[in-house]
This record gives sequence, structure tokens and C-alpha cells, in this order.
Amino acid sequence: MTRRAVVKGIGHYLPRRIVPNAEFEKTLDTSHDWIVARSGIERRHFAGEGETTSDLATHAAKAALDNAGITGDQIDAIILATSTADMTFPSAATMVQNNIGNTTGFAFDIQAVCAGFTFALANANALIASGQADRVMVIGAETFSRIMDWTDRSTCVLFGDGAGALILQAQEGDGTSQDRGILATDLNSDGRYRDLLYVDGGVATQNTGVLRMQGKEVFRHAVEKLAQTAENALRKAGLGPDDITWVVPHQANIRIIQATAKKLGVDMDRIVVTVQDHGNTSAASIPLALSVAVQRGQIKPGDLVLTEAIGGGLAWGAVVIRW
Ligand code: UT7
Repeated sequence: MTRRAVVKGIGHYLPRRIVPNAEFEKTLDTSHDWIVARSGIERRHFAGEGETTSDLATHAAKAALDNAGITGDQIDAIILATSTADMTFPSAATMVQNNIGNTTGFAFDIQAVCAGFTFALANANALIASGQADRVMVIGAETFSRIMDWTDRSTCVLFGDGAGALILQAQEGDGTSQDRGILATDLNSDGRYRDLLYVDGGVATQNTGVLRMQGKEVFRHAVEKLAQTAENALRKAGLGPDDITWVVPHQANIRIIQATAKKLGVDMDRIVVTVQDHGNTSAASIPLALSVAVQRGQIKPGDLVLTEAIGGGLAWGAVVIRW
């Protein structure tokens, strides 16, 4: 028998304010048509005044608890993937822990930028597989609207805010690829590429800073590395592209999603796409897309789901889950 981390509940939250591309035409030399053609993004949500990452995460966490039919005090660990935590410390995860009424578990943030949710899933899986936790909440939540340079048309039109949460629970499986739960993970990073995508502030500069990106270079790395990590994770699970029911990729750019799908040999009708409605929500993009796909009736129990993401670091990874 093998201890597996099986999905027990999922939920998401998007801030109320929806910002269509046309809004950027008022202040920047850009157009709805350019943004759609180059990224696939049509609109995104921005957090309201005073609304923080832990607020968004708490809404998503409560939705996931409701979906699982459990309460916050029944969670052993909370892992929150984010690059936009409310404060330098304490972690946003401990704020969520407090908001859902949990005092007996442990909570911490993970920072792997847009790949954060894959890193968080891999860590949750390790906690469950090793017997250190039975029930783990994994959250991706971001307020990237707080770290935008609103005069930089090449970045500020791409990102959005939101949160998604997943509850994983220990369950015995047979140790085969037919088991439900996380079947394989693949994590990577390479700090030589730090200048391709970063925020030009932080503790060292004593200001928060804004996002800087060499978009074309990130794009080039993205397609190559996403296909590679996806293939690695599938191989570790003893599976191949034909076994996949749904690919849920990081939602950064429709052209990256399409090019990676082609490289993997998976048709677009098996790819979950939400980038048109959410923009790039960094670590929140995969749990948001998973939750939306479940709501749409796309992902069902027993489906084989592959997630993959890349972001600043560079850091990238993939996770294979039987839903
Ligand atoms: O989640 C982390 C991972 N991040 C990503 O995956 C992002 C990866 N990169 C991308 O998605 C794309 O590179 C972008 C969407 C950022 C840009 O698309 P691109 O096809 O690579 O365009 P480009 O950077 O080569 O720019 C083409 C032109 C440039 O003008 P010139 O130099 O050709 O005159 C840009 O200045 O488009 C211009 N441009 C814009 N024009 C209108 C850049 N941004 C805009 C804009 N509106 N918003």
C-alpha cells in the first residue's frame, strides 16, 4: 500500500473589480487587439482598496473547506504559495490559519513565483507521504496589481489578482498509476536567470518595488522548460501524454500554452484555458484554473490531470494528479 495525497475539496476567489483591456487604452499606447493577439488576455480582476493577498486566500480557503465538507480546525497544515504576501512577515499562511479558525496545525508560505503552486503541491505531497500530516490545504494567492509599473505597457497589461485553494488528504492506494491522488512531481530552478523576471525592490532596498520582465526571453525558456518538466513528471508516474485527461497549465500567455501543448503532443481540447478571464495571476493561476475547470464540469473524479508552471528564478515544475 502507498500513502497518497488525494484531492478532497477545491475553491477559488476572484476580487470583484474586473478590468477589461480597454481600460489600459486610456493611459497607455496599447490596444485591446494587441493584448489579445500577443497574450490571449481579455480581462483580469484587481483587488479592491485595502484587499490583501491573505484576504483573497481566506475566501478561497473557506470555499475549499465548504467543498470538502470540513472545518478549518480539521486541517493539519496550510501551505500558501505567493510572491505578494501582505507583509515581509509573518507569513500570509498564518493569517489565513487564523481567519479559518485553526490553532492546532502549522502554516507557512512558499515563494517560487509563478511556479509556486507546483512547489506547494510537491511539499504538501511530501508531508502527507511521510506521515507528518493527514490533511493539507494548499493555496495559491496573489495581488500582482500591487507590484506593477503602470507606465510599462509590456508588463502591466498581463497580470491579475486572485486565489485558489485545494485540500489534500491521506488515503491508501495500491501504488499504481491508477491510484487517486498526486502520482508524481518534478521541480526545477536555475538562479542564473534571475534578471529575466524579478521585482526591483524588497528588504534590501527598503521598498516593495515593481515587476521587471524580459518577456521574449521568458517566453523562449517557458515553452522548452514546461514541456520538459511535464514529460519528466509523466515519466516518473509511469505515464505518457496519451494518458492525460486534462492539462492545467500556468496561465501566462495563450501562445505559451499552445506551443507547450504542441510540444507535448496534446490537443488544445484537453487543455484548460482561463487566461482570457484572469490574466497571469502567478501562483494563483493553476488553483484558479483547476477550480474553474471543476465548476465547468471539465475535471471529474478519476481524470488524470497534469499541471505545469514557470516563473521568476527561473523556477519551474509539474505535478501529475489523478483527481
Ligand atoms: O508568469 C511568468 C512567466 N511570464 C511569461 O510567461 C511572459 C512571457 N512573455 C510573453 O508573454 C510575451 O513575450 C509578451 C506578451 C510579454 C510580449 O509578447 P511578444 O510577442 O514577445 O512581444 P515583444 O516583447 O517582442 O514586443 C513586440 C512589440 C514591441 O515593439 P517594437 O519594439 O517591435 O516596436 C513592444 O514595444 O510590441 C510592443 N509592445 C506593445 N505594444 C502594444 C509591448 N507591449 C505592448 C502593449 N501594447 N501592451
